[in-house]
Amino acid sequence: MSTGHDTTLPTEALINEELIAYHQARAKGGVGLIVTQVAGVHETARYTSHMLMATDDTCIAGYRQLADVCHAEGCVIFSQLFHPGREIMESADGLLAVAYAPSVSPNERFHVMPREMEKDLIDEIVAGYAASARRMFLAGLDGVEFVASHGYLPIQFLNPEVNQRTDDYGGSFDNRLRFFREALAAMRAETDENFVIGMRISTDDRDDTGLESEEVLACCVALESLLDYVSVTAGTSATIGGAVHIAPPMAYQSGYLANDAKRFTDRLGIPVFVTGRINQPHEAEAILAGGFADMCGMTRALICDPDMPIKACEARPDDIRACIGCNQACIGHFHRGYPISCIQHPETGRELHYGTLPRAERSRRIIVIGGGPGGMKAAITAAKRGHQVTLYEGEGQLGGQARLAQLLPGRAEFGGIITNLTRELEIHQVKIKRGIWVDRGLVEKEAPDAVVMATGATPYMPKLEFDGSVQVVDPWQILRKDVKPGRRVVVADWRNDWIGPGIAEMMVREGSSVELAVNGTNLGAALPLYVRDNIAAELHKLDIRVTTYARVFGVDSGTVFFQHTASRNAMVFEDIDMLVLCHGHRPFDGLKAEMKGLDIPIHMLGDCLASRTAEEAVYEGLKIGATL
Ligand SMILES: Cc1cc2nc3c(=O)[nH]c(=O)nc-3n(C[C@H](O)[C@H](O)[C@H](O)COP(=O)(O)O)c2cc1C
Ligand code: SF4
Repeated sequence: MSTGHDTTLPTEALINEELIAYHQARAKGGVGLIVTQVAGVHETARYTSHMLMATDDTCIAGYRQLADVCHAEGCVIFSQLFHPGREIMESADGLLAVAYAPSVSPNERFHVMPREMEKDLIDEIVAGYAASARRMFLAGLDGVEFVASHGYLPIQFLNPEVNQRTDDYGGSFDNRLRFFREALAAMRAETDENFVIGMRISTDDRDDTGLESEEVLACCVALESLLDYVSVTAGTSATIGGAVHIAPPMAYQSGYLANDAKRFTDRLGIPVFVTGRINQPHEAEAILAGGFADMCGMTRALICDPDMPIKACEARPDDIRACIGCNQACIGHFHRGYPISCIQHPETGRELHYGTLPRAERSRRIIVIGGGPGGMKAAITAAKRGHQVTLYEGEGQLGGQARLAQLLPGRAEFGGIITNLTRELEIHQVKIKRGIWVDRGLVEKEAPDAVVMATGATPYMPKLEFDGSVQVVDPWQILRKDVKPGRRVVVADWRNDWIGPGIAEMMVREGSSVELAVNGTNLGAALPLYVRDNIAAELHKLDIRVTTYARVFGVDSGTVFFQHTASRNAMVFEDIDMLVLCHGHRPFDGLKAEMKGLDIPIHMLGDCLASRTAEEAVYEGLKIGATL
């Protein structure tokens, strides 16, 4: 089952060709049930500018087309029906919308102060759920899912911290459930008894201001007769710590909500679904076999590998491209307002363009230089299209910078990108030559039809006023253990990504006293939000002091000087013996000049072109491989 997830693919709040192609790929891959992303049930439900709306009949045609496409592949389809209450994430037009909630109770994460709903508005929204369910029913969908998870409107009614009403919708447990009962009954009245009506709910909000598991379980027990299933997840959109559970990053254990789900499965007579870092069929199988839940949702696992179910059925588990929980291209894109994709499978979200790659008109001999993720993806894509591809890697092992990235604390799973791409290289019979540094002579000797340069980058060291009193190193030296960690260390983080905070955490765990100086307005500004917030939590637990707006300036007599990037005042770190400069990378591209004059097309990608992330490298690998 693929659980509901915003894709940012819709335009004009309607289902379009891109979204149909996206779900069709998963239905073809063997997914049994797709729950489509949230659809707003009332005008006040617009929580992002690119969501689906089910508020009038114009939505029906698109849903019908989507249902037909899924049914043709034997896949069942439900739609999430949604109202965010006070959880308004972004403005649609640069102005702040009026958010409505059961009471005037501020949202901490988006700093929204909602207006209390009047009874008329509650009635309109209940009618909106009913009308939207009817539209899904008419479109031929198999069911709908009432989104009561993640702190959205229904659960705002249940939570006495948010709902301080004194009318029939507030106060007693029964009153706080009234909105649920009215909405669910109205949806049933507008459909029929074969139409599935389920509910998504967080087992607990994972925050001190939120609901706990007992209260949520009592709610599900009370509503059981109105529901066909309960789909459990965790967390709340309302707080930073709670929201991490909306798409838990790789620091969370696989299937970490199975025990929570079991408490619901044991008490409820209707099916219970569970989702949350269940990445592989064997993990799902263990949850089902152990009686923890009746169905496993796998959202990012299917964003990453739409064919995972078929591969599982065909007993090809090693061929599965397992999601690594990096959050970079899926929810990372969503939060920035771009269509979702996958760092490992950039074809996702781009199915219309890259869904099927045409075979090359003529099989050519291609050399790919550099076995990082980008080079591997280029080699795989070119080989898939019928070219004869040889991949050269200078080191003894494939992986490039991903081999170092996986050494950062809590990031071991990032190494999965190497395992997955290596398997694809094998499947597509790419010839791999390790431990060979390619030079002009080798290229001349091989005389390929095209060269793909994916030679990566090396650490960039900024110019400093420097008296030699402090050991200045780059993060690669720390990760490779080339140097002994200092006693009192400053980590200068220009990239605002994983590296600076990761190095700081690592060195503290090894016994150094570390401060982190970030050249930016906040820690991890370049990171997917939930990854950033998880890192912030770890640093806080370790008592690592973080200073922002800090541009590294120089070193004098054991003191490291920074400058505040807004005030231009000096910032001083005294009694320091090591400065780690996390200042990004410069292209390692000398071979380009060396090959000048050769009559062979050269294509560059990834960091050797300009230092960015693995996501750009893999996508450029796909683009180049698709056009060779
Ligand atoms: C890009 C993205 C968008 C999401 N949007 C929604 C949503 O619209 N509704 C919802 O209930 N959950 C949403 N989620 C949460 C997923 O349904 C799922 O619970 C989460 O990804 C954890 O499961 P996984 O580890 O299998 O990915 C979203 C997740 C992602 C990655
Ligand atoms: S981008 Fe990362 S987290 Fe998202 S689906 Fe791909 S591998 Fe998984």
